[in-house]
Amino acid sequence: IEQGLASALMDAAVDAIIVIDDKGIIQQFSESATVLFGYAPEEVLGNNVSMLMPEPDARHHDQYIENYKSSGVGKIIGIGRDVRGQRKNGQTFPMHLSVGETRLADQHLFVGICHDLSSYKNALDKLAAAE
Ligand code: HEM
Repeated sequence: IEQGLASALMDAAVDAIIVIDDKGIIQQFSESATVLFGYAPEEVLGNNVSMLMPEPDARHHDQYIENYKSSGVGKIIGIGRDVRGQRKNGQTFPMHLSVGETRLADQHLFVGICHDLSSYKNALDKLAAAE
């Protein structure tokens, strides 16, 4: 797929789309990812995706990827999981994470889609409080 078209598709998506290599290094960061996480693309490109999550996941994320590469067993790939992301200002928020994998010109890439669950969780909390 042509690079210009790939970026256009990523930036049209409502959910944040992040592409990393098999060392966890951020290769692509969509427009909605900049809004959700509060970073400009140049602040994250070339850095580890662990900068977008709180501890203890941040400290273990390289190992998560290594475990997958050696075992072939995905704990999130093909399943998805509700996790917490962390914005540039340090604030954490709930999100649903889906991860897919692809190979492009002998590069092993992972594509993460982050769906912000903040307003959904807020609504749930209000409902619970109203009971
Ligand atoms: C695995 C957390 C973002 C790629 C995991 C695991 C956790 C996790 C808990 C599985 C650990 C296990 O049970 O073994 C997070 C958190 C994120 C985040 C909190 C918040 C920003 C991302 C993004 C990508 C990604 C954006 C891709 C662009 C992967 C890969 C694996 C993984 C490739 C290994 C395969 C698998 O276990 O399915 N991550 N992750 N992660 N994550 Fe992340």
